[in-house]
Amino acid sequence: MPRNQRSKNEPWRIGILFSQTNWTSEVERTQLCGTLLAIDEINAGGGVNGREIVPVIYEPGSSASSYVDVAKKLMIKDGVTSIFGCYTSASRKAIMPVVERFNGLLWYPTPYEGFEASPNVIYTGAAPNQTIVKLCSYMLRTYGPRFFLIGSDYVYPRQTNRFLRECLLSQGGIVAAEQYVDIHSPRAAFKPIAQAVKESGADVVFSTVVGQGTSHLYQAYAEAGLDPKCVPIASLTTTEAEIHAMGCDVGEAHITAACYFESIQSDANNAFIARFKKRFGDHTTPNVCAETAYFQIYLFAQALEKADTLDTDILRPYVLGSSFESPQGCVSINETGHADLQSRIGRANRNGSFDVLVETPSMVMADPFFLHGPID
Ligand code: ACM
Repeated sequence: MPRNQRSKNEPWRIGILFSQTNWTSEVERTQLCGTLLAIDEINAGGGVNGREIVPVIYEPGSSASSYVDVAKKLMIKDGVTSIFGCYTSASRKAIMPVVERFNGLLWYPTPYEGFEASPNVIYTGAAPNQTIVKLCSYMLRTYGPRFFLIGSDYVYPRQTNRFLRECLLSQGGIVAAEQYVDIHSPRAAFKPIAQAVKESGADVVFSTVVGQGTSHLYQAYAEAGLDPKCVPIASLTTTEAEIHAMGCDVGEAHITAACYFESIQSDANNAFIARFKKRFGDHTTPNVCAETAYFQIYLFAQALEKADTLDTDILRPYVLGSSFESPQGCVSINETGHADLQSRIGRANRNGSFDVLVETPSMVMADPFFLHGPID
């Protein structure tokens, strides 16, 4: 029996795994902020069924093998069943066997490559059909058909580019080049890539570079004299966090597709930003990964209230089909364990926020195996 169920007076203990150091810490720190803000708010409102949520937090240091170690620690030593965390798909894939072996529930708040489903994972970040289809046609229509694909060398970029390539070719586009760099690459590695973009005659660069490499790529791009107003970099992961890290002047005019931008004009989002800044300081800005980390805690708490147990087999059915009014708008978990989300395209401005260019009128269904084809 999970340790959480032993006494009705004990808090609900949940595991939190976001890296605070190394390659992907810039954005993972914001995911931790989103998570802690939601936990604080729920606890301030009396917790769940009168019991506080208590986070058990470990630091995986942006290393997939460390994720495995701390996931084991959470599930075996700490008796935790629900884990909230992981940024890269490499870390998610690394800990899935642990979560599945101990029948836990991993809540994963990051856009990812799709083509995966597990009864032990709730995918709250966007699947490719929710972002790429619209982004691909927008970029093609607005900038031209020649795409240069550049990614960090691991599963998310390679699978995402496979999906993008299909979308692009089906719309008459051309892949000018496809290159990968090690996720740990230093800044110098991006200089020849920027040069290759320049020589390729590409109309659009589609980047699946993540973590520190994002700043390196965009800075090398600026240094090579490439003009994002003519040939922008389009991405699914270059959020406000990465734009601030690279310099708002460097990020200006590049394009990102995401379900949330800090610039969304709504009372719910204004209130969320105010609470976020009050808790973490005026210098912090939420982004899609932080907002997703935030709303998934609320979805969890709603399901937990009904289940009144952290037993995965009892909790999960209450998660499927549940909805929440999030700062991005309504979000909902469908029967595949993926989130139906809002879909937007934004262009970074000089202040480091995004001007929203395209917005769907309602949630886009997550279709992780792309069974329903393009919905544009
Ligand atoms: C990612 O690796 N899913 C960003």
